[in-house]
Amino acid sequence: MPGRGPGQMEKTKDMKHFLDIHTTPAADLRAIIDQAAAMKAARQGRPRGAPDDDAPLAGHMVALIFEKPSTRTRVSFDVGVRQMGGQTLVLSGKDMQLGHGETIADTARVLSRYVDLIMIRTFDETVLQEMAEHASVPVINGLTDRSHPCQIMADIQTFEEHRGTISGKKVVWSGDGNNVFNSFLHAAQAFDFELVFTGPAQFDPEDDYMARARAAGVAVSIDRDPARAVSGADLVVTDTWVSMHDAQSSRERRHNILRPYQVNAELMAHAKPDALFMHCLPAHREEEATSEVMDGPSSVIFDETENRLHAQKAIMRYCLGR
Ligand code: CP
Ligand code: NVA
Repeated sequence: MPGRGPGQMEKTKDMKHFLDIHTTPAADLRAIIDQAAAMKAARQGRPRGAPDDDAPLAGHMVALIFEKPSTRTRVSFDVGVRQMGGQTLVLSGKDMQLGHGETIADTARVLSRYVDLIMIRTFDETVLQEMAEHASVPVINGLTDRSHPCQIMADIQTFEEHRGTISGKKVVWSGDGNNVFNSFLHAAQAFDFELVFTGPAQFDPEDDYMARARAAGVAVSIDRDPARAVSGADLVVTDTWVSMHDAQSSRERRHNILRPYQVNAELMAHAKPDALFMHCLPAHREEEATSEVMDGPSSVIFDETENRLHAQKAIMRYCLGR
C-alpha cells in the first residue's frame, strides 16, 4: 500500500477535517461557535501575541498553504496558532513541488510526516478533498472556488455577538452567487435561518447547491428586485463582484450586470432599522458596497475580520480534539 511503512502515522481517532459547513454536524458547528466566543472573552485586553492560558496547541506544527492571495486568512490562522502555543509554516503553493507536478496525494502524505494540521486555500475543491483523503492529519478549507466555511463561521459568531441567535432571522445576499454565498447557504441549514439571494440571473448560485438546500428544507429564495428582497432583512451581505477564480477579463461585463445590486444606503433603508451589514473583505469600495455603508452604523465588517481569528482557533481545536 503506498505510503505505508515504519513511522507511518495512522489517522488518530479524534481527528476531524473541517472541509465544509454542510459536511460538519450542526451540533459540532454550534459547539465551535460557542467555544470561539468563550476563547475570545477569555483573552480580552491581552496583547495580540500573548498566549492563551491553556495553550491547547503546545507542541503542534500547522502548515498553512496558499495557492491564492490572502491577508485575513493568512494572518488570522498564523496568529491563532501562536496564541494557542503552536507553530506555523506558511507555504505558497507555487513555491512547493505541488505547483510543479507533485501530486496532491503525495503532498498530503509528505506533510503528514512533518505537521499536525494542514490548512489549504486552493482553486478546485477536488484539491481540498484529495488532500483530506490522503493526509493522516486534519485538513481545513481556507477557501476554494466553491466555498469559504471559516469565513461564515466567523460571520455567525459576529451576528450572534451583536443580535443573539441567528436562528429564524432573515439574511439577504446581494450580488454574485459565489463561494462565500455557498457557505452561507450551507450555514442556513445548520443554523436555521432564512436566506434570500438577490442578483442577476447570470450570477445565480449554482443549481445543485440550491436544489440540495431546498431538499434539506432550507428557506432559500431568489428575488431579482433588490429593494423587495432586502425588505425586513436582519442581515445584508455582499462580496466582491470578481472573485479570485474569475477571469479578470470578465471584470467590466460583471460590473455592468451587477451594478443594480450594489449595497448602498438606499438599499439598506429597506432592511430592518437594526439590520447589520457584512462583507468578508477584501472590498472594492463604491463597487459592490459604498463606503457610506461599510463605515456606517450597520457595518460589522471588522468584527467579522477579528472573529476569523477566534472562530478558526475553535475550528483547529475541534479538528485536533483538543
Ligand atoms: N476574507 C478573506 O478570506 O480574506 P483574505 O482573502 O484576505 O484571506
Ligand atoms: N469571493 C472572494 C472571497 C475572498 C475572500 C474570492 O473568492 O475571491
